[in-house]
Amino acid sequence: MFILAHLSDIHLSPLPEPNWQQLASKRILGYLNWKQNRKHNIGGDYLGALMGDLSTQITDHTVVTGDLINIALPKEIENASSFLKALGPPKDITAVCGNHDAYVPGALSKVFPAWQMYLRGDDSHLSSVSDYPLLRKRGEVSIIACNSAGASAPFLAVGYFREKQAERLAEILEQTRGTCRVILIHHPPVRGATHWHKRLIGLERFQRVVRKVGAELILHGHTHLDTVNQIEGRDGKVPVVCVPAAGNSPGGPKPAGRYNLYRIERGAKGTDWRIELQAHGFGTDHDGVTLIERKLLMDSQENA
Ligand SMILES: [Fe+2]
Repeated sequence: MFILAHLSDIHLSPLPEPNWQQLASKRILGYLNWKQNRKHNIGGDYLGALMGDLSTQITDHTVVTGDLINIALPKEIENASSFLKALGPPKDITAVCGNHDAYVPGALSKVFPAWQMYLRGDDSHLSSVSDYPLLRKRGEVSIIACNSAGASAPFLAVGYFREKQAERLAEILEQTRGTCRVILIHHPPVRGATHWHKRLIGLERFQRVVRKVGAELILHGHTHLDTVNQIEGRDGKVPVVCVPAAGNSPGGPKPAGRYNLYRIERGAKGTDWRIELQAHGFGTDHDGVTLIERKLLMDSQENA
């Protein structure tokens, strides 16, 4: 049994006060959005309570599917480094970036060195987006990190999945066949999962790779919703899961903060996988973190 924890869209708060020079970019929109909306729905002690509860769980590895920060201010990048460090040692934590981590051009060139140990593959240094996808093998589980984060124009929060990344993803999925292949990507690789201005550009390309080579589980963030979708894989449907934003407080327009645990074990045939999802977080009241639901995502019977 391998237990994988999944967090996403931390949007660490409070937002450090930017100076006017730092706001002379798309950041002014993100800053105003924070002041008007996110400030009231994200942050507070809820994130601390959620992390405290996660720390009591027995897990083998934790993944974070992007948007650790808000408008990519240097102080935010530094705060996120501390957050990752508090979450655990780099060998046990794998993160990918989201559009907010790449909020303005040049942001990722500061994020990559700062969070390097949590982003890089087992045998590879991370210097630019062209190094993706990256692979980390943990026992019988292969964690494959894709990057959809890149700066986009004002009023857009799109992600990108280009041909070079698709070719490399197909190679890695092929090499790791027989293990439980878990793909991480910030933007949802599912049609209609989000608005046009927040979509994954290259979604068809991503789905084509999974259809051809297969995968066992795909984890994303970005929508801040609790969704389980499926896309076609080589040997059957592949579950695609989004976990609500970790920093969401209860009572807001989106589900309150959660983390998911995936309990992964080999199926009866020995070549298949059984994956159970356990969602932990705040319910509709403010009574602390509880087990919200558990469901089977993949069973040998389904893909037989
Ligand atoms: Fe996002």
